[in-house]
Amino acid sequence: MDQIRVHSPATVSNVVCGFDCLGFALSEPYDDITLRLIDEPIIKIRHNDSYGLPTDPDKNVAGVTLRAMLDAVDEPFGFDVEITKGIKPGSGIGSSAASACSAVVAANELLERRFSKLELIEFAMAGEMLASGSRHADNLAPCIYGGFVLVRSSQPLDVIELDHPPLFATVLHPQIEIKTSEARAILPREVPLAAAVRNWSNLGAFVAALSKGDTELMSRAMRDEIVEPARSSLIPGFDDVVQAGLGAGAVGGGISGSGPSMFMISASREAADGVAAAMSEVYSRTGIEFNTYVSAIDPDGVRVV
Ligand code: HSE
Repeated sequence: MDQIRVHSPATVSNVVCGFDCLGFALSEPYDDITLRLIDEPIIKIRHNDSYGLPTDPDKNVAGVTLRAMLDAVDEPFGFDVEITKGIKPGSGIGSSAASACSAVVAANELLERRFSKLELIEFAMAGEMLASGSRHADNLAPCIYGGFVLVRSSQPLDVIELDHPPLFATVLHPQIEIKTSEARAILPREVPLAAAVRNWSNLGAFVAALSKGDTELMSRAMRDEIVEPARSSLIPGFDDVVQAGLGAGAVGGGISGSGPSMFMISASREAADGVAAAMSEVYSRTGIEFNTYVSAIDPDGVRVV
């Protein structure tokens, strides 16, 4: 086999109470990548979309990720990559993670699955570093594994797949861009101990609630006193949208990753559709264009199509 095509899901990271360590995968939107093995040790990148992402492999997330993998393989071949992004860059639903993960999963298939999923995340971390200036895996891990994933440690990597009940996500994506590097730069460097205690109590409770299928506990646990207060002012209409989602019956929600997307979790698709309608109605008052997605939790992560 010298050619393969994969779909790579969008992901919601942080999930309010798990900054930099918790995320889940969405069934849509997703990226589509075709990878071909070539006889030269180079990486060629082509885009079939209008986002204007770099084609220079040293400046492209998929490119630097594949370079990290080729350096580990040390063999005289390379890759031709054709990317159709369904996930808009800078949206806060794991666009760079999807680029990095699709590239390494596809390449690994062509290399007869030489590397483990953890090793693939290690390579993909080079792409996340290029995109955001930081080594975090809370989008990468759910993108590769699917479902809800906790990253206990990113160095060395320690990743835990979490049991969860059937859940549905509503995402509202305002058409503004927030750079992850900038959304990280405004975070407090030090936090009060009492706030830290409440945050890790909520994360523990959320993980327990997922495994028990206890949506009421999930709802109580989806709080963050450290990151969201610093970032929410970057997103016009944030408080109103969250209140509208909760008022329409969502379990909980907040900023998706570093924003500007906002997400809500619901217990059924019908509820998630109602939440989307309520969030849209409120957001249309801002005058900012937006997209909404209602999606199941994707169980598989990047998959061959
Ligand atoms: N956990 C990261 C952040 C996700 O919130 O900065 C964005 O890539």
